[in-house]
Amino acid sequence: MSILRVESVIYGIEDIREGRKFLTDWGLEEIDSGENGAIFRTLENQLMVVCKIDDAALPPALETGSTAREVIWGVDNQASLDALAAELSTDRDVTVDDAGTLHTIDDSGFHIAFRVADITPADVPEAVYNFHENVERLNQHSWPEVNAKPMPLRIGHVVYSVEAAGNWEAASFYLDRLGFRVTDRAINAGTFMQCDGSNFHHCLFLYHRGDHRRWNHLAFEVANFDALMGSGTWIDGAGYKTTSGPGRHSLGSNWFWYFKCPLGGEIEYFADMDRMDENWEPRTWDEAPPYARWMLGDGLIST
Ligand SMILES: [Fe+2]
Repeated sequence: MSILRVESVIYGIEDIREGRKFLTDWGLEEIDSGENGAIFRTLENQLMVVCKIDDAALPPALETGSTAREVIWGVDNQASLDALAAELSTDRDVTVDDAGTLHTIDDSGFHIAFRVADITPADVPEAVYNFHENVERLNQHSWPEVNAKPMPLRIGHVVYSVEAAGNWEAASFYLDRLGFRVTDRAINAGTFMQCDGSNFHHCLFLYHRGDHRRWNHLAFEVANFDALMGSGTWIDGAGYKTTSGPGRHSLGSNWFWYFKCPLGGEIEYFADMDRMDENWEPRTWDEAPPYARWMLGDGLIST
C-alpha cells in the first residue's frame, strides 16, 4: 500500500463568488463551476473543491464558518484502496461513493477519504543560480517575471490543529493504520509526518500547541525562491492578508509565506522543503525549535 499525496480538499464556504476569485488569484485553473460551487486544479492535477457551506452532501463541519470539510488522499492503485477499506472497516464506518472514493474519519474526527491518484506530472523549468564560484548561469541574465500570476505546482501538505491531550494517539492513527512516517516530533507542539509514497518532510502536521481542534492550513509548492516571492507579492497585491512570512521554517526548512484564506484557516506557498525517505532517523524535540530561521515582517499574526 502506498499513499502518495493529498489528492483533493473539499471546502464548505459562505461565499462561492469570493472563493472562486481567491482560487483564481492563487493561481489555480478552474475546471468546473456553477451556482453551488466550483472545482480548481493544480498543475499536477489535485483538486480544490468549493461547495456552499450548507451543502447537505458535505461531511459535517467541525467548526463554524468557511472551512475544509474533507481531505482526500491519493493512493497508488486500486489494490491499495481495497486494502485500506478492509483495514479501516475493522473499527469505523467506511463508505464508497459512486466514483469509487472511500470516505471515513480519522481518530480526531476529521473527515478523510481515499482514491486512486490521478497525477499529471508538471513540466517545470529548473532554476539556475550563481552562488560564489558555483556558476550555473554563465552569460545569461536572471529576470524572473514580476507581477506575474502565481503558478503553484502542487499541494504539499495539510495541517490540522488538534487538542494537546491525546495528540500522540491522533498521530498514531496515521502512523499505524495508514503507513505514514514521523520525520520530526516536538513534544510541546506537534508531529510532522510524510505519507509512505512521498519524500516531503511533511504531508501532514498535527499541531497541538493551540489546544483546540480545527482546520489549520493547506500548503502549495511553488518552483523556487523567485516564484515564492513573486506569488506572495501577487497575492498581497490582490488584497489578501499575510499571517506570517516570507521566511524559512526550522522544521522542514521550507521557505514559506502564509495568508489568511477566505476558504477557512490559512494557506501557504512554500518551496525548498527538506526531502527524506525511510532512512531518515526521526527526531524528537522536547521543545520545538523556533518557528522560523528567519522571517520578514511583523512576526506571527494570529488569525
Ligand atoms: Fe505549512
